[in-house]
Amino acid sequence: MSLTNQKPDLEDSINVTEAHGRVVREAAACARENRIVDNGIGHISLWSLVVCGIVAFIAGGVYFGSGAELFAYNTSFRPGYVRKPPGGAEDSGPVPKEALAAYMAKGSKIYSAKCNGCHGADAKGNGSTFPALAGGIWPNGETERFAMIILNGLEGPVDDGKTYGIMPPQGIGMAPEDLAGIMTYVRNNFGNTKGDVVTTEMAKAAIEMSAARKNAGKSVTGAELTADHMKNLPGEKMDPKMMLDPITLAPAKAP
Ligand code: HEC
Repeated sequence: MSLTNQKPDLEDSINVTEAHGRVVREAAACARENRIVDNGIGHISLWSLVVCGIVAFIAGGVYFGSGAELFAYNTSFRPGYVRKPPGGAEDSGPVPKEALAAYMAKGSKIYSAKCNGCHGADAKGNGSTFPALAGGIWPNGETERFAMIILNGLEGPVDDGKTYGIMPPQGIGMAPEDLAGIMTYVRNNFGNTKGDVVTTEMAKAAIEMSAARKNAGKSVTGAELTADHMKNLPGEKMDPKMMLDPITLAPAKAP
């Protein structure tokens, strides 16, 4: 080992303690500085946020205080603009129907609910316990007689001279328009083609008449029908083509 390879002596002028202290202070100072950010996006300082907030607050105050209408949507309407109602909104009721069709539509529901079960969906009866209404003389004949059968029920014999049994009264809770509907329906369906309308007014008269019968509460008999009720119900005849409100059966308003 030669002398030239020896480490040189530290310079006498360097104060090691003092130099060490400086290195420590500088390292501490570096640590206090902001971190270096590699992607170039540093944290925004709190002060910048506070300043921006104050600026926005003042600017907003000035802007809205001056009556600006940036968010007022009423400025996007044309002045005096009135929204047009959608087409057809004026005639808001149901589509009017011809009287005969309107009464029959009502009657069809009553038939299904009240008569179908005995007289059958085709109104042909069953030949033994329930007579046919299709082609029958009584349903197609005088309206007062037909109404009295429905409202009070019937004890035979019926129009074909046969006795089928006892028909219970069907008039309990029946409104005049229901009675009018069922009568019109039977007289114009199942092959029956009377072509006339039994009106609500006529049905009202029938209900009053039924309540005033001397045998009120008892079924009518063929004899009573022939003696007292071989008539048409009082009331003005209705043009079967007259336009009606299909719900109320009142004359439809002119369009
Ligand atoms: C519970 C069964 C039953 C119901 C419901 C019923 N009927 Fe009858 N109907 C009869 C019977 C039974 C006779 C025959 C009575 C007799 O022999 O006297 C009859 C007879 C009749 C007659 C006489 C028939 C003719 O040709 O002379 C008419 C009209 C009639 N019914 C209409 C109706 C109508 C309209 C309804 C519905 C609103 C109705 N009936 C509901 C059982 C019923």
